[in-house]
Amino acid sequence: MKQVLLIDTDPGVDDALALLMAYDRADVAALTIAAGNVGLGHTVANALRLTELVAAATPVHAGAAEPLVRPADDAAFVHGADGFGDAGLPSAQRQAEAEHGALALIRLTRERPGELTLVALGPLTNLALALHLDPTLPQRVARLVIMGGAVTGRGNTTVPAEFNIGFDPEAAHIVFSGWPQFELVDWEATMRHGITLERFESWLAAGDARARFYDAISRKIRGFMRERGRPGLVLADALAMAVVLDPDCVTRAEHRHVAIELDGSLTRGATVVDWEGRNGKPANARIVLELDQARFEALIAAALGAA
Ligand code: BDR
Ligand code: CA
Repeated sequence: MKQVLLIDTDPGVDDALALLMAYDRADVAALTIAAGNVGLGHTVANALRLTELVAAATPVHAGAAEPLVRPADDAAFVHGADGFGDAGLPSAQRQAEAEHGALALIRLTRERPGELTLVALGPLTNLALALHLDPTLPQRVARLVIMGGAVTGRGNTTVPAEFNIGFDPEAAHIVFSGWPQFELVDWEATMRHGITLERFESWLAAGDARARFYDAISRKIRGFMRERGRPGLVLADALAMAVVLDPDCVTRAEHRHVAIELDGSLTRGATVVDWEGRNGKPANARIVLELDQARFEALIAAALGAA
């Protein structure tokens, strides 16, 4: 039976690939949208565009437009001012739902207790709001997989912070301290699972309409990777989605307690992992450290119609 996913996301070029993977292999109950990579207007518009591309009637719920406490910089310099590589795509015809994303998370999990896998691909603002309103939320979710953090302090925004956590550390703190058990796919794992541009571009050339769409929205980011001399594309949200869709592809994982640093002048937004079990707190995270690269790549190629 297909998994049913509830995806909280801030599309975002790598979010878009993760969504294509999800639609290829699972059912998607709803998309709840946060600000993050770019502003909420763009992330909602991009989610709607993506659903139209795959001809899905998935409800799209706009959520938080700002982090909970402090304003944060977006990642438009990577994803483009519109979050989809400034590819000049036409707007979607579909509209977002009236219901706020955080409320949709609460309602949908009440309607389908135990059925839904929650996938968090952006800042955790909507999840934190939902959890604050309804602390019983985790009991109704089959599985929570989060893309976020840098588990040994090698971040991608400040020195130790990864974007999704660093954008809204207070939200991450609420989720990490209130959700008893989740799976964490961090930035450092992403860096170990890059995909060569040559291979990725061969799928873009061989695939269907999804590949043509992805070719357009990822052009800017591929140029960005080339300029920085990165050996391959790092696709954080796609890696997290691989763990969702093919749990057996994980080859190494460790259970640890993870907390969020909120105050440090150099370390705000860091994921503090108790690797040595010093604080005596039960592990809240299953940290994914390695997965089967071939299986990861097979999911992507299929999602682009190139398998
Ligand atoms: C994460 O930050 C965003 O820019 C990406 O979409 C991904 O979710 C990687 O740090
Ligand atoms: Ca994202």
